[in-house]
Amino acid sequence: MSAETLYERVEHAARTVRARRDEDISVALVLGSGLGAFADDLEDALAVPYSEIPGFARPTVEGHAGRLVIGRVDGLTLAVMQGRFHYYEGYSFDEVTFPVRMLGLLGIQSLILTNAAGGINIEFDQGALMVISDHLNLMGINPLRGAHDERFGARFPDMTEVYDREFQEIAIEEANQMDVAIRRGIYAALTGPSYETPAEIRMLRTLGADAVGMSTVPEAIVARQMGMKILGISCITNLAAGLVDHPINHEEVMEAGARVRDTFKQLLRRIIPRLKSSDE
Ligand code: HPA
Repeated sequence: MSAETLYERVEHAARTVRARRDEDISVALVLGSGLGAFADDLEDALAVPYSEIPGFARPTVEGHAGRLVIGRVDGLTLAVMQGRFHYYEGYSFDEVTFPVRMLGLLGIQSLILTNAAGGINIEFDQGALMVISDHLNLMGINPLRGAHDERFGARFPDMTEVYDREFQEIAIEEANQMDVAIRRGIYAALTGPSYETPAEIRMLRTLGADAVGMSTVPEAIVARQMGMKILGISCITNLAAGLVDHPINHEEVMEAGARVRDTFKQLLRRIIPRLKSSDE
């Protein structure tokens, strides 16, 4: 164990990335399971494998490439995390949230978190997109637990508006203009990796959840603590347990992600320039 604090380790990672590419980055994205294709469209791209960034863990899940891609889209420089770390892989919450904290220290103010999720709201179809309006942290742990370092932000950060309202409107407007079905809803995060039981899905519906997944929430909490504005988008890759008469499996989740790939890429492309201009 090194004697460095978490903050210093995150700073070291940010310095390492800056040494490879020192540019003002407008917006950062974290791409979830099966949704990594957006990174392939970046121009003048530099891909840094996570193994080359000190302090980063390595993803173990299929569908997560495990690299940070910095490049341009429509004249804006973006940082794209192609693959994330999940708690169910055995990582600590510090490891799970390390990349987002590094993005914060790189000066990123607008963060798009994407994920694959199971649809709980019975009005959702497979392949639908959901703009996250709020979340339920049901992971049983909070990423801010432990020693507090105020350089990351407040000890007790406010979570009234984790997902920026204006960003939600922008995403919905752009999807509507593309004629893409999009809904707003509440994302419940569980640790996984087993999928839920039908009884658990009924419980989550009673609690007000519209979708369920195994990521995003820890990242959103640390990003809010650092003052970033967040847009969360879930791709409803399957209807949750008990809503369909067949078992849920990771292949189905990946395939559904692949089917919406082009739509999702185009939507992100339309949203991103508007997030940039709204934080100026
Ligand atoms: N449950 C939890 N996580 C998920 C699901 C699901 O049904 N689909 C994609 N990620």
